Amino acid sequence: MTITVGIITISDRAAAGEYDDLGGPAVKEAAEKRGWTVAAEAILADELPRIQETIRAFAAQGCGLILTTGGTGIAARDVTPEAIRGIMRVELPGFGEAMRMESLKITPNAILSRSLAAVVERSLVIALPGKPSGAVECLHIVAGAVPHAVKLAQRVPTSC
Ligand code: MTE
Repeated sequence: MTITVGIITISDRAAAGEYDDLGGPAVKEAAEKRGWTVAAEAILADELPRIQETIRAFAAQGCGLILTTGGTGIAARDVTPEAIRGIMRVELPGFGEAMRMESLKITPNAILSRSLAAVVERSLVIALPGKPSGAVECLHIVAGAVPHAVKLAQRVPTSC
């Protein structure tokens, strides 16, 4: 099964060019190593409407999997979970639970991430933390369920 991926880096500073985006390329490399095809990429500021618009645009252009990195924490501008929850059909709580549980074995700070997964339109959206190594770690934790979840999300209504 071909998995077409859109990757969105969500960071005020990366969007402003204050530093290079390292999270997006790290997630891209991890996705490609799994044989997935990265078809769209964006770097956005932590702005809720822009995040929602871009997720919808990537879904409309056929990305069955949309990976975001950044904005899952507790900083004043972190709005990635709120943006996704504002447009999702269903949340998949197991993804967030697994990412936090397994990441806690790597760093106690993992508990600070509000990482999650949800179905938006017919796409699976996974919100990964912003630190490049953390994003890749979290993707590896949930990757085993991604092909089946992407397949189910493409069916309307969703069923096993
Ligand atoms: N998860 C893993 N696996 N590895 C990490 O290094 N960093 C944590 C956490 N989750 C981390 C992780 C840190 S330090 C923070 S503040 C939160 O993710 C939120 O990050 P974000 O706001 O950049 O999304």
